[in-house]
Amino acid sequence: MSIVVSGIRPTGRLHLGNYFGAIRNFLRLQNEHTCYFFIADYHSLTTHPTPHDLAGNVLNVLAEFIGCGLDPDKATIYIQSDLPETLELYLFFNMNAYLGELMRVTTFKEKARKQPHNVNAGLLTYPTLMAADILIHKGEKVPVGKDQEQHLEMTRNFAQRFNRMYGVEYFPEPVAFNFEGELVKVPGLDGSGKMGKSEGEHNAIFLTDDDKTIEKKIMRAVTDAGPTQMNQPPSPPVANLFALMAIVSAPETVEYFKEQHATCKIRYGEMKKQLAKDMITFITPIRENIFSVQNNRDFLIKIVRQGREKAKASAQKTIKEVREIIGFKTW
Ligand code: ADP
Ligand code: TRP
Repeated sequence: MSIVVSGIRPTGRLHLGNYFGAIRNFLRLQNEHTCYFFIADYHSLTTHPTPHDLAGNVLNVLAEFIGCGLDPDKATIYIQSDLPETLELYLFFNMNAYLGELMRVTTFKEKARKQPHNVNAGLLTYPTLMAADILIHKGEKVPVGKDQEQHLEMTRNFAQRFNRMYGVEYFPEPVAFNFEGELVKVPGLDGSGKMGKSEGEHNAIFLTDDDKTIEKKIMRAVTDAGPTQMNQPPSPPVANLFALMAIVSAPETVEYFKEQHATCKIRYGEMKKQLAKDMITFITPIRENIFSVQNNRDFLIKIVRQGREKAKASAQKTIKEVREIIGFKTW
């Protein structure tokens, strides 16, 4: 049994990238390990400092977690800000985190480019807060998508550094985890990089999108003018469509369209129709589950309280031990 920790920021509705990068792993891990899954509301302030309805967004993500099949009786599901113990650990890690290494983090550089008017210290220390989230429970496995790999490397550095500096073997060195081996990167529909909430409404398929919306987004996805030579590798936007097909369609379907592409017979319209159909089949039951819990506030709040209690017990133990290791004393 390992200790598993992961979080998702409540900055919008969950999409297929979140599902295949993170949540699908949560669902399997919760049956076999001690799991802590949380909604990273502190982290959301690094990019959304004045959210319109923070508490509402948090409850929405919680409903999405439950709708996807996360089970509060199996995993500890909680809200990051219900665990301010994390912030004390964050402070300790920040004391031994260096400006140079924080500034070299790719996500920091990207976000600094995207929000030049708000390059705040929270953004710079995003990886130390993330390390605190994981290590507050002494997490070992961290189910996340490929974009989080570097953050996990930082987490291991901070854990190692703490152990070395204070001469202990206290923190584990957590690894990014995916059942299939390689970490997942689900592409978006606009022909460029990954699917994400911040890349525009039409780039992502959300778990709560209705059938018409899914179909419209897929039919509009970027492709190319078609292959001109036999066995030509698909261009990046078309490769993205194949990647999406690989996650929701039957292997025979993917094979069929690959063959059509290799022989220059492919009609992208036909491929997209099939992809939309398979996507809808995949999403419909999840969407219905999400809708069925979304309005049940009492149920969601009960889960929040139950999660808070369980997460607190684990966090308070760690903080007490860390204080002793560093040399704080309660007189
Ligand atoms: P977003 O990138 O949409 O803002 P988050 O940053 O909150 O979403 O990501 C939450 C989790 O979902 C992380 O584990 C992240 O790696 C994963 N994730 C997000 N987008 C993708 C994607 N396109 N492919 C794979 N995993 C993803
Ligand atoms: N950085 C993660 C993301 O944007 C969210 C997150 C915060 C997280 N703390 C974490 C993920 C701890 C795993 C473990 O996707």
